[in-house]
Amino acid sequence: MKAFDALKILVDVLIAKGYGNSVNNQLSVDGNGDPLPWFSYPAIDYLRGLDLTTKHLFEYGAGCSTLFWASMCKDVVSVENDRAWHAKVSSAAPPNAKVLLREDEASYFDAILEDSARYDVIVVDGGLNRRKMAERSLHRLAPGGFIILDNSDCHVRAAAVLRQADLIQVDMNGFSPINTHETTTSFFFARDFNFKPKGEWQPLKTPWCMKHYVDE
Ligand SMILES: C[S@@+](CC[C@H](N)C(=O)[O-])C[C@H]1O[C@@H](n2cnc3c(N)ncnc32)[C@H](O)[C@@H]1O
Repeated sequence: MKAFDALKILVDVLIAKGYGNSVNNQLSVDGNGDPLPWFSYPAIDYLRGLDLTTKHLFEYGAGCSTLFWASMCKDVVSVENDRAWHAKVSSAAPPNAKVLLREDEASYFDAILEDSARYDVIVVDGGLNRRKMAERSLHRLAPGGFIILDNSDCHVRAAAVLRQADLIQVDMNGFSPINTHETTTSFFFARDFNFKPKGEWQPLKTPWCMKHYVDE
């Protein structure tokens, strides 16, 4: 096979993930228009395979992700600092997703500390200082849970804060919806992490594997 033919096949793989649809709509969605977190595709694929139905999630930075989490988790609290974006996301949010608007920086960072709730999953993906979000998140992570830091390749200080808290760092680099560059989404797991897969398979079977291999 020539390099150009191989490249065409790689583009088809991205299109099957809904990449073309996300670019056309400038929204983080899959091929059916369903919302996805704006993370690297490897991170999205990992999350799609987890059973989060009993999990409580907190998110810095609302978006299509908020709708995705609401469909996957028991409940979601998301904090957003941009008024227009907050109005857009909150108008689409189902009853198990609460989208807070906190326009000044201090109350945005401290939104996770407003009550004593603990969260099984905390997402650091907001448009302000992610190191400060990471520091607050450590105070509210439930036992056995994990924190997600998106664009960790840029937010290396936030990554260091989480790593130095004795969480286990796993970096998932790759293409993501909308963007034309690679990005890294990092997971920081508590040492007693024990989430279960959603179905029979972890990892999820890929279309390629379905065609070429059968389990013994
Ligand atoms: C990286 S985005 C958050 C993305 C969100 N967590 C997601 O995965 O969909 C950070 C901030 O960008 C702003 N924003 C502006 N346009 C946006 C868009 N089309 N999608 C997502 N966020 C957008 C919002 O204020 C948001 O909190």
